Amino acid sequence: MGKKITDKVTWVGKTDWELKSFHGDEYSTHKGSSYNAWLVRDGKNVLIDTVWGPYDKEFVTRLKEEIDLKDIDAIVMNHNENDHSGALPELMREIPDVPIYCTKKGEQILRGLYHQDWNYVTVKTGDTLDLDSCRLTFVEAPMLHWPDTMFTYMSGDNILFSNDGFGQHYATESLLESTADMDEVMREAKKYYANILTLYSPQVTRKIREILEMNLPLNMICPSHGIIWDQNPAGIVQQYLEWADAYQENQITIVYDTMWNSTRQMAQAIARGIESADPDVKVKLMNAAKDDKNDILTEIFSSKAVLVGSPTINYGISHAIAGLLEMIRGLRFKKKKAAAFGSYGWSGEGPKQIHDHLQKSGFEMVSDPLGILWNPDRDTVADCEAFGRQFAMAAAGSTAETTGRQLNGN
Ligand SMILES: Cc1cc2nc3c(=O)[nH]c(=O)nc-3n(C[C@H](O)[C@H](O)[C@H](O)COP(=O)(O)O)c2cc1C
Ligand SMILES: [Fe+2]
Ligand SMILES: [Fe+2]
Repeated sequence: MGKKITDKVTWVGKTDWELKSFHGDEYSTHKGSSYNAWLVRDGKNVLIDTVWGPYDKEFVTRLKEEIDLKDIDAIVMNHNENDHSGALPELMREIPDVPIYCTKKGEQILRGLYHQDWNYVTVKTGDTLDLDSCRLTFVEAPMLHWPDTMFTYMSGDNILFSNDGFGQHYATESLLESTADMDEVMREAKKYYANILTLYSPQVTRKIREILEMNLPLNMICPSHGIIWDQNPAGIVQQYLEWADAYQENQITIVYDTMWNSTRQMAQAIARGIESADPDVKVKLMNAAKDDKNDILTEIFSSKAVLVGSPTINYGISHAIAGLLEMIRGLRFKKKKAAAFGSYGWSGEGPKQIHDHLQKSGFEMVSDPLGILWNPDRDTVADCEAFGRQFAMAAAGSTAETTGRQLNGN
């Protein structure tokens, strides 16, 4: 059975407590997730979104317990990615003529994914669907996070159905802010923003301003993953504005990989240097090959400055650092400082490659890369500590000299 949210709105989604990864293995989901779909019953009955394909039969079966499928007058698809549209084919086999309200891009995506000539009704910002005592208003939100994305606002109950926006991969039974562990929820909401939305921050800011200017009364935000913001919907909106504005905390994150421990020793010495120069800054060390990549990206999102280190391997860098750098490039972090480091045995181009990659990814490089030949000795450990001190001062905005040791031959 579904879960009643208001007199008119029932949650008919799927909660998956066991989900460990999403988007293949691109996104880790330590706390499970939910696919939220909603049944709005009024003079007309409307289904908003569906669930992921593996749960399609379960979804249709449980929907039938709520409503005779013949009584569904329309389906609204806010966003047509597989996790929300996956159960559509199963549902449409039962009610093939029911209109599907979505954006023009939404229709293209549904056609591209399922190759079906369904009864598409394309909508634009400001278009409405009257249900009797309430009205649905559609607001296009392109690239939040796909070209097809839109939000649906329900008057009367004053609910914004925001699909992935304001969502979190988080499983709960109650779906409500009031009974959820909000520390966990906020951690997952931040991780979601950092990993999925950072690069669309300009659109986030613009869309939120546009919606705020509409002055709509807002009792709840119902996203497509995780909890409903039923206590303080304005709070997550405000939080999104902060996250979208080149977010940073007083944190420096050091990410490294190592085969024989030299680069790890460098990372630890750099951390000591940072700590000695700026005892107020939060320093975190993460091993790119051992720590979760999405957690690392969330820490980078929270940082004002990052150091990335890799041993030189086959005239290049490690697999884990290379993968992470590609993810960093894609997210287009803003206003963050950075530097590169690493141990090497002969050619030593690894740190320079990291440096160039971070620079191309929009980081402000505050020093030359630091390369150390083989295992660091007392002198080169001291060099690493000095590198850390200088980095901390540069990250704090100091004008102190910030050049590191030049690499031989680079
Ligand atoms: C498979 C392998 C390939 C390597 N390729 C290079 C290389 O192309 N150029 C270089 O300068 N050092 C190379 N090295 C040497 C490492 O960079 C050196 O051992 C370094 O100190 C390792 O740092 P780590 O202790 O942090 O793993 C290679 C080492 C290994 C094991
Ligand atoms: Fe999505
Ligand atoms: Fe989604």
